[in-house]
Amino acid sequence: MFKRTHTCGSLRIQDVNRSVALNGWVNSVRLHGQVIFVDLRDRYGKTQLVFNTEAFQGDFDLVKKLSMEDVISVKGSVQKRDSSAINPKLPTGEIEVLVSDMEMLNEAAAMPFLISDRNSATEEFRLKYRYLELRTEELQKNLLIRHWTYQTVRRYLSEHDFVEIETPCLMKSTPEGARDYLVPSRLHHGRFYALPQSPQTYKQLLMISGFDRYFQIVKCFRDEDLRADRQPEFTQIDLEMSFIDEEDVLQLCTGLTRTVFKEIRNIDLPDPFPVITYSEAMERYGTDRPDLRFGMQLQEFKPYSDRSEFKAFKGAECVKALVLRGGSKYSRKMIDQLTDFVKHYGAKGLAWMKVDAEGLTGGISKFFSPELKRKIQQDLNAEAGDILFIVGDARETVLQALGALRTELGQREGLTDKNVFKPVWVVEFPMFEWNAEEQRYTAMHHPFTSPKPEDLDTLESDPGSARSRGYDLVVNGYEIAGGSIRIHKRDIQRRVFRLLGISDAEAQQKFGFLLEAFRYGAPPHGGIAFGFDRLVMLLAGAPNIREVIAFPKTTSAMSLMDDAPSPVSKEQLDELGLQLKEQ
Ligand code: AMO
Repeated sequence: MFKRTHTCGSLRIQDVNRSVALNGWVNSVRLHGQVIFVDLRDRYGKTQLVFNTEAFQGDFDLVKKLSMEDVISVKGSVQKRDSSAINPKLPTGEIEVLVSDMEMLNEAAAMPFLISDRNSATEEFRLKYRYLELRTEELQKNLLIRHWTYQTVRRYLSEHDFVEIETPCLMKSTPEGARDYLVPSRLHHGRFYALPQSPQTYKQLLMISGFDRYFQIVKCFRDEDLRADRQPEFTQIDLEMSFIDEEDVLQLCTGLTRTVFKEIRNIDLPDPFPVITYSEAMERYGTDRPDLRFGMQLQEFKPYSDRSEFKAFKGAECVKALVLRGGSKYSRKMIDQLTDFVKHYGAKGLAWMKVDAEGLTGGISKFFSPELKRKIQQDLNAEAGDILFIVGDARETVLQALGALRTELGQREGLTDKNVFKPVWVVEFPMFEWNAEEQRYTAMHHPFTSPKPEDLDTLESDPGSARSRGYDLVVNGYEIAGGSIRIHKRDIQRRVFRLLGISDAEAQQKFGFLLEAFRYGAPPHGGIAFGFDRLVMLLAGAPNIREVIAFPKTTSAMSLMDDAPSPVSKEQLDELGLQLKEQ
């Protein structure tokens, strides 16, 4: 190998006549009679190589056999390209290297798919050859964005007095709401470690240890149903602070997010970020993760439907509408499609009315008096050319169906520009969520989240109305961070455990160590965790988090490249004291 003097992205017109050595992958080969042009690629860029029989001193037959993705090493001199051959799109586009010698470092077999066009293969197939897919420009760019994001986050937090501390991966199970990945113990048969769903308990313990400000860029593991923004193992920017309140965490994390967007994308996010309460978010957007890139808020409609002749909404607990600007172009067929869409979310149907120059028309408009129609159009700020979509049902169903419809319409109408970023803090989440299946309350965030002090007195008598000191950061409809001010007193922690149906004995067995720690001087504390992959996904403009993870799993939690999870030998099971059940 000739040791490289430059990378494939670094040579410029000033380097003409310089003797250089380059190493890299053959990106393309073009034959022009006795002259062969090769684009040589590495992660820094591409350089055009020229092979002709006059300058080349080695075996020219070897050059003729070059094929895509061979790894070669060349020596030669830099020359100016003919003016007709200049490529203004490439930083190295004004020069080429006339090659005098070449060494084949590794001949590549025929590629399973085109590196220059990864969409030529299915995602499953590409995941099997992920190391090749990672050669593509898109994924190289995404992983560099990820790299710069790590560096920016570390620098920002370190400058703000945060200490980076690693916490164990083999730990006792903590409840973040998902299933644990368990690791059987060889030395203690019948006992299991859990992989962390998050370092939640450790970071609280670190506050009790007096570290005051902790952070970690950390892997978390959750055995849950996967979707585009979820992986079984993912990365968090996890942090915790002492002697603070909500305002401090929001301010610090607003600063962190603004710094990251500025440094990585040169985008100025607002300061401060808007803040809305959970109940406002639900009422206006039908979700606690509102996409604020567009308006189209949900509006009350019950006062109007109650005064109409439209019977279907008469007994409904809640009736809401949304107005789609320019939506009167929607055909019957499209409305039928959207009706099917909202039915997935539990709605029984989707009522509609269009607006023309005369006023509300079509759909259910015939059930409304002219006066009422005028009032609706005015109150809901609907203009000629718009369409109103209306759902009446139980409140939860209405919010869910119209919230999903709003997102769908935003996407259909091209209102979700991926280069526009709209952050919003969502605060005052409910403490508890009623789980109808299990007939019990579960923690909306996690069991260590503090209730609002003003809701403490009614915690037991009215748990459903208790609000927490939790907060989420939402950007463009994605929850990119979530956290809370914690409980730091044993008695309140016990009350919350009881409300969650965790008995004192069970609490002792599961979290005795944490409850014990609260006895020895626990400072008031709180924190948050960012979904690092989601943050990078947004920064990279990627459609899912697999695009920003080097070796992701499929939606069925498989690694297609190394075939994990895979069976293990009987000896390994014996050592762990495990026996597989007959399937
Ligand atoms: P939470 O469970 O809200 O909080 O997680 C924090 C953030 O992690 C991201 N996230 C995920 N990203 C990819 N794949 C997943 N399966 C996945 N699950 C969650 C989200 C989410 O906002 N210990 C608490 C934090 C705290 O209270 O300080 C916690 O883990 O972006």
